[in-house]
Amino acid sequence: MADLTTSWLGMTLGSPLVVAASPLSHDADAIDTAVAAGAGAVVLYSLFEEDLTREQSAARPFAGVDPYVRQVEQLRERVRAPVVASLNGVTPGGWTRYARSLEAAGASALELNLYEVATAPHESGAEVEFRQVDVVAAVVAAVTIPVTVKLSPFYSSVPAFVRRLEEVGARGVTVFNRFYQPDISLDTLQVDRTLAPSTAAELPLRLHALALLAPGARLSLGCAGGVHSGMDAAKAILCGAHVVQLASVLLERGPGYVGVMREELSRWLDSKKFGSSAAARGKLGFGFTADPHLPPGRGGRPVGD
Ligand SMILES: Cc1cc2nc3c(=O)[nH]c(=O)nc-3n(C[C@H](O)[C@H](O)[C@H](O)COP(=O)(O)O)c2cc1C
Repeated sequence: MADLTTSWLGMTLGSPLVVAASPLSHDADAIDTAVAAGAGAVVLYSLFEEDLTREQSAARPFAGVDPYVRQVEQLRERVRAPVVASLNGVTPGGWTRYARSLEAAGASALELNLYEVATAPHESGAEVEFRQVDVVAAVVAAVTIPVTVKLSPFYSSVPAFVRRLEEVGARGVTVFNRFYQPDISLDTLQVDRTLAPSTAAELPLRLHALALLAPGARLSLGCAGGVHSGMDAAKAILCGAHVVQLASVLLERGPGYVGVMREELSRWLDSKKFGSSAAARGKLGFGFTADPHLPPGRGGRPVGD
């Protein structure tokens, strides 16, 4: 049986299958089930900057942070895998001190979710990025536990942005978060706010980014988005992922489905004679794949040539 042990953010995990930030982490029993089935770590849903700022400024205390901190403490006691807290913030500010509370509560690491839709026409892409790098630097400076950054795909150069994150002390990146994309109902002329689960069709965008990042990156790589099977996980690992994060598949099929995916991944590794997931990691990085500069149909070198 292949060894699924992986390293992520300086930690050794029993498996590269990680529970992604989602409402699943509100349910400690569900987390237990996922970990018993083979999840290597758990990322909690995010605590949002606007809530933290509201708590700082409101005359009426906002009760959002304490329950989150308590939940980290409780899960840390109960769950036999690293518990990663998640902060969502995109402007430098006093809220970053909450990172310390999460560390004190026993979080093994922090995932900083840079979920931001740029809406201000006067702020350039470069300015947005500088601001975000400042936020990452502030969170890194506030804690001693590792900080990983969850990115959107919408940077002009993902590798250059990741290099800057590495320089300010991020220990990992997760590619990519998934923007909320409301649809329009043509019947009711309303915005349809249903959050559709992902499908595996979202995976190739992540695979491409991982393959670009893996050869030069000193930091840990996480894949989030479109991983629905052990074979999807295998693809992400081949492209350089240390971990794959799972949300939609577990919300749809239940937390125990980690066990099925673990089995699929093991079987595939065995079938290809990889003794471990670490041995397969990065085998299809940039350099082994089609030329990333060529548009489709213009003859990028196919894999295997
Ligand atoms: C209902 C729901 C809530 C989510 N909440 C968060 C969150 O609080 N913080 C975060 O970083 N990502 C959040 N995500 C994004 C997931 O962590 C994950 O990145 C995304 O769903 C892509 O993975 P998937 O294809 O496995 O669903 C959420 C996703 C869903 C479906």
